[in-house]
Amino acid sequence: MAGGKTILILGASRGIGLGLAQEFAAREWRVIASERRRSEALHALDGVEVVTADVTDPASYAELGLADGSLDAILVNAGITGAAHQSAERASDEEVTEVMMANAFGPARAARQLLPRLKDGGVLAFMSSLMGSIADSSGGYDLYRTSKTAQNMLAKGISEQIAGPRGIAVLSLHPGWVRTDMGGPNATLDIGQSVRGLADVLDHAIGAGAGYRFVDYTGEALPF
Ligand SMILES: NC(=O)c1ccc[n+]([C@@H]2O[C@H](COP(=O)([O-])OP(=O)(O)OC[C@H]3O[C@@H](n4cnc5c(N)ncnc54)[C@H](OP(=O)(O)O)[C@@H]3O)[C@@H](O)[C@H]2O)c1
Repeated sequence: MAGGKTILILGASRGIGLGLAQEFAAREWRVIASERRRSEALHALDGVEVVTADVTDPASYAELGLADGSLDAILVNAGITGAAHQSAERASDEEVTEVMMANAFGPARAARQLLPRLKDGGVLAFMSSLMGSIADSSGGYDLYRTSKTAQNMLAKGISEQIAGPRGIAVLSLHPGWVRTDMGGPNATLDIGQSVRGLADVLDHAIGAGAGYRFVDYTGEALPF
């Protein structure tokens, strides 16, 4: 395994997560990637170890069989758009809970629980979105935006409290607008363009020192 680096990707059955599993495998990293249900596309990738996990179910990722300090990078990619109406006013309590658990609290809890598996000096990354930026927001997409804003806040807290002291960098990543099931056919980037950039950003952060950054797939800093 050239490079000898190991990454765990949570949420890799399709879209950007699947693309990243393929990209890191092509870079000859050891790739451990999760699905909730069997993903033929993920299983078809050479050199990728597939595990089952749901970021909203701690029992599902508690026992992944990973040794402490065995990972160079953890990427929590899983995410949902939430209810189609996206309206704070119209959303039921269940719809609010669903999006906040899948995009913010589930990812943060998974990251906290899995952090011991990461090496000191490694990278913890979350797939966020520019839509989670308060400074950039023009409103709308209430459910998705607020869940990603909450994710960013929780990520920064992990950085300040437990990752930083271990020299671990924490990244909130914006992949660009990408043609996936979520991004839709009119998005500006194909998966390959996004994941090549994201993989570079993540790789360069390993060993670069602690700190929290909200950046896009080109490495450009975004307003929090
Ligand atoms: N596409 C874009 O333009 C764009 C822009 C900004 C940010 N993002 C973010 O990028 C990430 C990937 O998006 P995508 O476009 O690739 O979306 P996608 O094609 O809809 O894929 C979403 C992935 O997340 C997984 N997932 C959802 N809920 C999960 C859970 N509770 N536990 C584990 N896995 C779960 C899905 O698994 P299943 O197959 O089991 O559902 C799937 O693998 C998301 O966090 C999204 O918010 C995307």
